[in-house]
Amino acid sequence: MGFFSRDIKTMDDLFVHTLRDIYYAERQILQALPDMIEKASDTQLKQALQAHLAETRNQVTRLDQVFRLHGQEPSGVDCPAIDGIIEEADDVAGEVDDSAVLDAALIAAAQAVEHYEITRYGTLIAWARELGRNDCAQLLQQNLEEEKAADKKLTAMAESRVNRQAA
Ligand SMILES: [Fe+2]
Ligand SMILES: [Fe+2]
Repeated sequence: MGFFSRDIKTMDDLFVHTLRDIYYAERQILQALPDMIEKASDTQLKQALQAHLAETRNQVTRLDQVFRLHGQEPSGVDCPAIDGIIEEADDVAGEVDDSAVLDAALIAAAQAVEHYEITRYGTLIAWARELGRNDCAQLLQQNLEEEKAADKKLTAMAESRVNRQAA
């Protein structure tokens, strides 16, 4: 997208642009998750991140399908927002020594990622429906449900961590 060219002219263009944004984001997350899994100490957290890595691979496949249904080749566009979230997570993790504190930092970072994904998928589903693409909306909805479930799981882990500390 050029600064002077104003390539996004229609809702359809905006939908495709945002689809490319989340496509890029999911692929960055695929690259970042193995590192987070390695850093995690808590078995439950490790397993949850591992499971979400597998889900994320499926999500990318669903996005491939959405692109094709919409007559577009799958491709990404730089998403500085997700790059920033991942970079910040890396920075903070690099500052933490204690493994329990590192787990807390990893949960917080993962939740920031999930919330970014949830906002993007919510928007994409609404726009897909507006454009009469219920087929695309349905696939995007499946991704959204997985992100919400992952977020809920992380919240439960964060809360049980706090409860353990208080005990
Ligand atoms: Fe995702
Ligand atoms: Fe996710």
